[in-house]
Amino acid sequence: MSQNEISKTDETGIDKSQLSWDAWDELQTPPPAETEFDRVVARAVSRRGFLGSMVAFGSAAAALGTLGNLMSSTSAEAQQAASRIPFKPVPISTDHTIHVPEGYGWKPLAKWGQPLFSNVSDLDPANGVSLENSDKVFGENTDGMELFVVGDHQVIAINHEYVNPDINLPHREKGNPQNIDEVRILQNMQGVTVMEVAEGADGWQIVLDSPFNRRIHHNTPMKITGPAAGSDLIKTAADPNGTDCLGTFNNCGAGRTPWGTYLTCEENFNGYFGTTDAAFKMPDDYKRYGIAAETRYAYEKFDERFDVAKNPNEPRRAGYVVEIDPSNAKSVPVKRSALGRIKHENAAVVVARDGRVVVYMGDDERGEFLYKFVSNGIYVPGGETSGLLDDGTLYVAKFSDEGTGEWLALTPETTGMKMDEICVFTRQAASKVGATTMDRPEWVAINPVAIEAYCALTNNSYRGVSKDGKPRTNAGGEVLALNAVNPREKNEYGQIVRWYPENADHADSKFKWDLFVMAGNPTVHKDGYAGSSNINEGNMFNSPDGMMFDSTGLLWIQTDGEETNEGNFAGQGNNQMLAGDPATGRIERFLTAPKGAEVTGQTWSADKRTHFVGIQHPDAPFPDGEGKLPRSTVIAVKRNDNAMIG
Ligand code: FEO
Ligand code: CA
Ligand code: CA
Ligand code: CA
Repeated sequence: MSQNEISKTDETGIDKSQLSWDAWDELQTPPPAETEFDRVVARAVSRRGFLGSMVAFGSAAAALGTLGNLMSSTSAEAQQAASRIPFKPVPISTDHTIHVPEGYGWKPLAKWGQPLFSNVSDLDPANGVSLENSDKVFGENTDGMELFVVGDHQVIAINHEYVNPDINLPHREKGNPQNIDEVRILQNMQGVTVMEVAEGADGWQIVLDSPFNRRIHHNTPMKITGPAAGSDLIKTAADPNGTDCLGTFNNCGAGRTPWGTYLTCEENFNGYFGTTDAAFKMPDDYKRYGIAAETRYAYEKFDERFDVAKNPNEPRRAGYVVEIDPSNAKSVPVKRSALGRIKHENAAVVVARDGRVVVYMGDDERGEFLYKFVSNGIYVPGGETSGLLDDGTLYVAKFSDEGTGEWLALTPETTGMKMDEICVFTRQAASKVGATTMDRPEWVAINPVAIEAYCALTNNSYRGVSKDGKPRTNAGGEVLALNAVNPREKNEYGQIVRWYPENADHADSKFKWDLFVMAGNPTVHKDGYAGSSNINEGNMFNSPDGMMFDSTGLLWIQTDGEETNEGNFAGQGNNQMLAGDPATGRIERFLTAPKGAEVTGQTWSADKRTHFVGIQHPDAPFPDGEGKLPRSTVIAVKRNDNAMIG
């Protein structure tokens, strides 16, 4: 089930047990019926003052006129320049396997339920993974990943965003857990895997029993540091100091630091915390994050920690970027509260001109924001790095319609909030400074060969849309009016925005921006929904999501979208991965996924001859063939001549 299908079936009572986690969360939140219309209108008026005439609903054409000017560097002339894209593009697919270009091949590396240790058996299709084995196997629903070289070893750290309960608990109706052991199985199959990998005669394999192998899950002890550490907002009966928490949740995108650590990003954490206590009054701050009584897996029925009536601060201990040292399986993960509490997609790290560490981060929900953290300390190779992500300034992006923008600091002075409040209620802080509501910021990718960064704005079914005469808003009540960076009403295709920091410095507070691509369908539409000039019948796609640069400066775009191949999506086929050339704007399709699957997460081997790609939630047997279970899988893609591909 893709996210665009949700926008069509919104509020119609579809079978939620079959949804991807993102899709489930989009159905749950925000609750627009609770929005006060007067408050919404007041905000709309104040925003019109800033945005000018372009925000009036229905003015997509005007916004798209501005868009044309903002897209100068992806013009038709530029695209005629020589392109660096080194493969023959593949057509769309609608089947249940992977397709890659001529001259390339792929093999599975790691599948849901596959052992990390030699004394553990592979997944039993009839019974799933046992409780005993569930923290010793590769988890489900692979997402962001990074490969690290540790001495002579190659170690991949990789996220497991969520589970499909029906296949993990096959004996239970819709996979609903009925006891604490079954809850533990679901908890253990999510989180992060760290695993050594090696290439042999049969291709890439997990190195069983490697001392690097470990699972991090919903009960793994970790620290929380930065301004929220020790705050009354996050203290619990089990952790009266507010410094030691358990587990990382809904690990979506990822990042890496220059000092060799992995950053895993907690996205839709809200869906794990709930209560059966109808008398419990939800704290006011819950609403902005979509924390509600109903949860996806009903942990709260069997595991008190997740019952917000008993532990109201527990959900405030999730929603962070978590730093993991992949070189030491005994290391304690650290939640870095200075990077804010949002529905974190990924964390793209770059070192500024003066050595400060910059982390770009999207908050993936309709109408939420794009963020940047800048450290106070300087990164010195080989120097002390343990506090760099604890001390700095968090900013949120404001885009002007003229192609400029600024990063607005979130400080006690600008927000009227204390530092711990800013780091726990980050969305509320960002709303106070006038940030630009975005069309669901997914991954940020930083070009390694140019001073520029990109963010995938995946889609936004609420943009410029009214319901029952009331304009749609984000969860904070801000009207999602059109603007130049989010210019399309009911945006079901998505776009990729690119920004160029002033003074060629990622720490600068100003930037210029343009749109690298507006996805669309030129075979169905002739207007702005056809997409930008670098979209054509042969490369079209919708809902860009995962995104990373390779070391040569090619942008690899992964999709998580509508795959009916009908109507507005006719000719777009299954989800896919494409390569984009920043210099020319040319985009070509490299890989198509099995039906039902999202393509998400990627990294490269140390020799750049293998491109690892994540295939999340296939809906039919994959990759083991007919009669077998669908298994979320990481694949290794290589050229047949073993040339470098990244
Ligand atoms: Fe987990 Fe926004 O993707
Ligand atoms: Ca996903
Ligand atoms: Ca994603
Ligand atoms: Ca997505």
